[in-house]
Amino acid sequence: MVTGATGNIGRCLVGRLLADGAAVRALTRDPARAALPDGAEVLRADLTGSADLAPLLAGADALFLNLAAGGGQAVTALVDAAIAAGVRRIVLNSSMAVTDTAADDSNHIARMHADVERTVRDSGLEWTFVRGSNYSTNTLAWAPSIRATGVVREAHPGAQGTPVHEADLADVAAVALLDRSGAHLRQAYRVTGPEVLTTAQQVAEIGRAIGRQTQVEQISEEAAAEAMAGPHLPLEAARELVRLFGTMVDAPAFPISDAVERVTGRPGRTYAEWARDHVADFS
Ligand SMILES: NC(=O)c1ccc[n+]([C@@H]2O[C@H](COP(=O)([O-])OP(=O)(O)OC[C@H]3O[C@@H](n4cnc5c(N)ncnc54)[C@H](OP(=O)(O)O)[C@@H]3O)[C@@H](O)[C@H]2O)c1
Repeated sequence: MVTGATGNIGRCLVGRLLADGAAVRALTRDPARAALPDGAEVLRADLTGSADLAPLLAGADALFLNLAAGGGQAVTALVDAAIAAGVRRIVLNSSMAVTDTAADDSNHIARMHADVERTVRDSGLEWTFVRGSNYSTNTLAWAPSIRATGVVREAHPGAQGTPVHEADLADVAAVALLDRSGAHLRQAYRVTGPEVLTTAQQVAEIGRAIGRQTQVEQISEEAAAEAMAGPHLPLEAARELVRLFGTMVDAPAFPISDAVERVTGRPGRTYAEWARDHVADFS
């Protein structure tokens, strides 16, 4: 069963699991708009609501859990329902912000994901954590301004990231969900892209993919945080993130991980490839 099935990772994951011959149950709040593949069993569910979760999980043996489809209490309820339904395994979409050190208490994103990791660990079910670095899909936030003017406004154009393609996160999750060897159980994979790129370099890659000039204009940290904040990212958490990006200027980014290659057997997709896959979003 895949939560967040119409999302960035979920949609790739559903396709990948079907291609691998698995039976897939895909959750969405709106099946009519979901446009999921015919081979998937598509079920309606709002995980932050009070609906009975048991029927959603009946017969499922593995669960892909994405906080984007509901964190906090929604996760606890879903994990409890999974235990009751006899689900054997949870693959959790977590975050590289979690480091298994005291620092996990020091920022919103690490705390949120570390809490859910704890819930999953304590469930007694089999588990694998996919701790992604900065998602390439975050840069879809630049699409409106690139389409309009070719200019991206950011506080730290020199911030170094290791952008990871949603298809790589999905591929790692699919291997862990379907694995019969036990090799991926109790593993917390740090999943990054295959290269370090600054914000300015990512903007340039989008320009190359769409065949247009793109550039970065530097703005204040506060303006960047206000632009980034939204329903899923409180302003204070956005400020923390922007400050974190500031520490990544001219300093080593998170180290690159070879987890995609180790788990899937092929190298991670580059940001240039991601930009080519998303030309329609920026054109
Ligand atoms: N962004 C990063 O750099 C980063 C880094 C590390 C980890 N992460 C983690 O990755 C997550 C994002 O993953 P993603 O990009 O694949 O997500 P996404 O594209 O935002 O997809 C989320 C999906 O969840 C579903 N959903 C939303 N609210 C729901 C609800 N109340 N009940 C049921 N389903 C609901 C939506 O589907 P419907 O509209 O069809 O219901 C949506 O398509 C973050 O939340 C974070 O935990 C992110």
